[in-house]
Amino acid sequence: MPRFIPEPYRIKMVEPIKPTTRGEREAYIREAGYSLFRLRAEDVYVDALTDSGTNAMSDAQWSAMLRGDEAYAGGRSYFRLVDTARDIFGHAFIQPVHQGRAAEKLLLPLYLKPGKYAIANLFFDTTRAHVELAGARCLEACCPEAADTKSRAPFKGNMDVARLEQLILEHGVDSIGLVVMTITNNSAGGQPVSLQNMRNTAAVCRKYGIPLCIDAARYAENAMFVKLREAECAGWTLRDITRAFFDLADCFTMSAKKDAIVNMGGLLGIKRADAPQVQLVKAGCISYEGFYTYGGLNGRDLEALAAGLVEGLDEHWLRYRLGTMEYLGARLDELGIPYQAPAGGHGIFLDATGFYPQIPYHQFPGQVLAVELYKACGLRGCDIGSYMMGNDPDTGKQLRAINEFTRLAFPRRVYTQSHYDLVLEGIEQVWQERQALHSGYKITWEPPILRHFQASLAPVAGEG
Ligand code: F0G
Repeated sequence: MPRFIPEPYRIKMVEPIKPTTRGEREAYIREAGYSLFRLRAEDVYVDALTDSGTNAMSDAQWSAMLRGDEAYAGGRSYFRLVDTARDIFGHAFIQPVHQGRAAEKLLLPLYLKPGKYAIANLFFDTTRAHVELAGARCLEACCPEAADTKSRAPFKGNMDVARLEQLILEHGVDSIGLVVMTITNNSAGGQPVSLQNMRNTAAVCRKYGIPLCIDAARYAENAMFVKLREAECAGWTLRDITRAFFDLADCFTMSAKKDAIVNMGGLLGIKRADAPQVQLVKAGCISYEGFYTYGGLNGRDLEALAAGLVEGLDEHWLRYRLGTMEYLGARLDELGIPYQAPAGGHGIFLDATGFYPQIPYHQFPGQVLAVELYKACGLRGCDIGSYMMGNDPDTGKQLRAINEFTRLAFPRRVYTQSHYDLVLEGIEQVWQERQALHSGYKITWEPPILRHFQASLAPVAGEG
């Protein structure tokens, strides 16, 4: 097999992208308050800000959209989606929603309130925000290998099960409302969780009677990693692996904008049809999202999502998908550039502390590297580090992330190998210039929650 697997698709429709000069990019990022989120997308050449909702749909998905049933209640497309999702995940109740955070908003307050905690192998930012919006607090128990970017452990997304049990006992069983397993573990670098770790986590949850929820945004990439790395599962289908994970959970939230290869959509699942949460989710959905048979989506979106769930679990596709990340990782290894190794499923998480050991966490090295990459080659990534973590909701103090990452998260079926080569050239150039920078950024304005989407920054050393 070639090291870089040729794209398993042909291009039928194109969208032009515009080259810019370094001088132009320096002006654009300054005008954007050094926020990658506030750039205009047309001023970006390779957009690796996120793999969320930025995917290219297939001809099968586009044609399925024409069959969308736009009935307000009981539409055909709803039943097609629910049947497909039940078949894959095995949960009796499936609720479509407009994206992952809508599922979080509907589900998390049913388990969490002030005085309660949720424990995860790591929370993604919106999940953390919804735990806190429910009045509860987040605790994390990620395996220690995740903090060591150089260790090539196969399942760096795993829960630290001993730590999980310790946290339950320390805080008291009654105060733990929910355990969340994020697959793959985005904040740890798109790193997978093993089936054995999922089983061990579920056993602890059962022992103490605590519900277990999967944050399933990248469940398909996780299944492919498990097939490749967990000996027991080598001969299993990706559906078998997926089912084995979801059988162990009581419920799940899913941003379908990732592995289900759509531009908008989400799912919420509850294993047992008779769980009291089912009626509450339906009622909440009607209040916030729309009637429960469309959940804030168009009928045509439900069709695209049903088709995407099936395509997203295709083994050839996923072998290629993980192969592109391995390709990037292999070249970074040759150049000695630090990143969360081995490469993650949806992206490369560059170790910004390795680039800039001279810049302290409160000057946001992950953000510094993201800005430098944009200036160098028009590549847009984002900070997954202390800048994203924000402030402690109780003390207001800046939190310190375990790792200061700059994430390059790649849309599905959008870029080709030459784009990935451009990305590598940009990273290499910034790596060579890394010692020229002596300080990072300070925040000049920030909103109270999820600040990294909107905040403005200024260089600590002053402009220019
Ligand atoms: N959970 C995980 C693990 C995520 O990565 C995301 C979104 C969500 C939940 C929320 O889903 O965006 O559909 O509301 N992650 C995106 C990202 C934004 O860039 O990683 P959403």
